[in-house]
Amino acid sequence: MTDDDIAIRDRLIAAAREAALQAHAPYSRFGVGAAVLLTDGSVVTGTNFENASYGLSLCAETVALATTNAQGRLRDVVAIGVIGGAMDAAGKPTGTKPVGPCGRCRQVINEAAQLGKRDIVVWCAGAEGDAYERHLLSALLPHAFGPGDLGID
Ligand code: THU
Repeated sequence: MTDDDIAIRDRLIAAAREAALQAHAPYSRFGVGAAVLLTDGSVVTGTNFENASYGLSLCAETVALATTNAQGRLRDVVAIGVIGGAMDAAGKPTGTKPVGPCGRCRQVINEAAQLGKRDIVVWCAGAEGDAYERHLLSALLPHAFGPGDLGID
């Protein structure tokens, strides 16, 4: 791993941890933050956004990528950092176990990967601590279905 990789990891995990402080997760009390790195070095964040109708809840990664799309930048995603953990009484996510994107989020990340024609690095961490995982989307979602299968680039 290069110094650049470490710098990107630290930046994305810090931004995801900051974002997770705003998680709206009163039902699961599991706060998640995501931070998306774009080709120009800018970062877009998201948090999980739950709903009293539980099944309508949105994951942090999906929120971050929808915001990225709203900025016209879905093709420019290079990497994404994800963190999460059970909230303490003050609503702050806790714990050191790395959290990875759920299956639906992997499919949403794949939309950006195929549009941008690049594999996306997925950094995972807990809400605290120095345990990290580095994955490629292609390993998290092999043989993915995406826009390319519909003839769209
Ligand atoms: N969650 C995410 O935000 N991202 C994931 O990839 C996994 C799960 C959220 C959804 C829900 O608000 C809470 O974590 C517990 O499942």
